[in-house]
Amino acid sequence: MESIATDVLNAELISREDLNETLSIVRVRPDGGRVPDFQPGQFVRLGLPKPDQGAPTAGRPGRVRMTRRAYSIASSPLTTDHLEFFVVRIEEGALTPRLWEIPVGGRLWMDSQAKGEFTIDLAPPGADLVMVSTGTGIAPFLSMLRTYAENRPWRRFVLINGARYASDLGYRDELERVCRGDESVRYIPLVTREPEGSPWTGLRGRVQTVLEPEMYERLAGVPLDPARAHVFLCGNPDMIDTVEALLVARGFVTDTHQQKGNIHFERYW
Ligand SMILES: Cc1cc2nc3c(=O)[nH]c(=O)nc-3n(C[C@H](O)[C@H](O)[C@H](O)COP(=O)(O)OP(=O)(O)OC[C@H]3O[C@@H](n4cnc5c(N)ncnc54)[C@H](O)[C@@H]3O)c2cc1C
Ligand SMILES: NC(=O)c1ccc[n+]([C@@H]2O[C@H](COP(=O)([O-])OP(=O)(O)OC[C@H]3O[C@@H](n4cnc5c(N)ncnc54)[C@H](OP(=O)(O)O)[C@@H]3O)[C@@H](O)[C@H]2O)c1
Repeated sequence: MESIATDVLNAELISREDLNETLSIVRVRPDGGRVPDFQPGQFVRLGLPKPDQGAPTAGRPGRVRMTRRAYSIASSPLTTDHLEFFVVRIEEGALTPRLWEIPVGGRLWMDSQAKGEFTIDLAPPGADLVMVSTGTGIAPFLSMLRTYAENRPWRRFVLINGARYASDLGYRDELERVCRGDESVRYIPLVTREPEGSPWTGLRGRVQTVLEPEMYERLAGVPLDPARAHVFLCGNPDMIDTVEALLVARGFVTDTHQQKGNIHFERYW
């Protein structure tokens, strides 16, 4: 079984940057060296063979049982030799503690096709894009910024990221650098559990704090106007439900297969 399990692995972990004990930016190169075509905002699954393969299934003797999970791609499709992911370790999770055991140069499984509809073309050109994320939910927005910053199809790209602690705020340096060079991009991080008296001097509270009309207009430089804005929500499903309700009460409409709207979301669980 060991050799069969090894055969299904089709990619290599080529680097890992730890933000802290539970958050890492990892890069994965598929065998063959070329990533699948994808649009910023899409995801692929990563996987490992289950540790307990159980008894062979009747009729499918060599089939390897896998644990697979979806991850938004943080890199741009302009980078073609690897995919980057921003991953949080869930202590009781089936996959992530095992991902943390893979050394650089170690093997894993990765989808050969990207999936997902959480892409920027859900909004018309010239819109104010309001990108609201919790934790690792910032990943798809990184891919969008990295891809479109040179030829921006927006009036504003307002990226709000809520995390527990300041050390959980991924990509801060990169995002602050982008904002210094581009007035159309606003990066608004905020934290909920950072101890009082810590070096953090930025905003505190949940992402909803920034969606208060006056606060939003001050930070974004434009009003939060349903006629002009499309809101993309990514990460914690409780955040998505709460923010969706708040926005609907202010005249936004949820985008579904039945009706076009200006609230789009990607739930991570
Ligand atoms: C479309 C899509 C894209 C995703 N992209 C990412 C990504 O870019 N980075 C990432 O870390 N995860 C992402 N996830 C979540 C990921 O698929 C796994 O669920 C996660 O890595 C945990 O896997 P696990 O097997 O260790 O634990 P699981 O058994 O899958 O999850 C256990 C519990 O952990 C919590 N949880 C899961 N994911 C997260 C998370 N990201 N942040 C906070 N709490 C979480 C939930 O309470 C969940 O019920 C995505 C999920 C979907 C559906
Ligand atoms: N340093 C650490 O030890 C550490 C750090 C991060 C994560 N983790 C582990 O990773 C796992 C996932 O944690 P995570 O922090 O990445 O994800 P998370 O639990 O989704 O929290 C991310 C952010 O989303 C906020 N949030 C939660 N519900 C919300 C809602 N309804 N509306 C708006 N905002 C909401 C949280 O605020 P609240 O704080 O108010 O809930 C937090 O600021 C946990 O199992 C945790 O143990 C550990």
